[in-house]
Amino acid sequence: MNAGRLITFEGMDGCGKSTQARILAESLDSKGLDVVLTREPGGSPGAEEIRRLLVEGPPERWSAETEILLFTAARRDHLERTIRPALDRGATVISDRFADSTRVYQGAARPDLRTLVDQIHDAVIGKDPDLTFIIDMETAEALKRGLDRNSGEHRYEEMGQSFQDRVRQGFRALASDNPNRCHLIDGNRDVNAIARDISRIAGWNP
Ligand code: TYD
Repeated sequence: MNAGRLITFEGMDGCGKSTQARILAESLDSKGLDVVLTREPGGSPGAEEIRRLLVEGPPERWSAETEILLFTAARRDHLERTIRPALDRGATVISDRFADSTRVYQGAARPDLRTLVDQIHDAVIGKDPDLTFIIDMETAEALKRGLDRNSGEHRYEEMGQSFQDRVRQGFRALASDNPNRCHLIDGNRDVNAIARDISRIAGWNP
């Protein structure tokens, strides 16, 4: 079978990763490639239902352990229903967040749970991306952009700047621990300049 490629975009809230995921997907689509743009939490009907439980409501709604299980339940459904079928037919799957978000966000909330996150990932997900772009930028600027969107999905932004600083550091550490898979992208630049870098690293000319 002609296995496709899984490309993920990661970074703190408001870093611009959703825009970059969309630009890459549109550019591949315009070249006639089979591309699926998807997101987490969500990306399949069941996972989108779980998403609402996670992104709405007060910050203390779930314990850290429950949250890891909910994110993982959503991811498992997303993998079964959307990602695997697309990869199996040879498509390129571009996901706006994936397992690295759980490693970093839930690890930032409770560093002692990082081992549990890795164990659950190995037991029920067991899939890592072929390529990951981590968009890095100043926390204050990213937070401002995220809150400006007024989407009603602000549970994580409401955890404040020091939490988002830990998230930023977590993503930077992840990039240096996985240099073959992860590319740290400077997000404090013009959107088209960032898109050109991403396209080149992914192996497609813009
Ligand atoms: P997302 O939809 O990417 O929000 P935005 O478009 O505002 O960046 O993700 C929603 C929130 O869920 C975001 O604050 C990050 C958080 N999150 C986790 O904490 N763990 C996870 O595993 C995932 C996928 C997301």
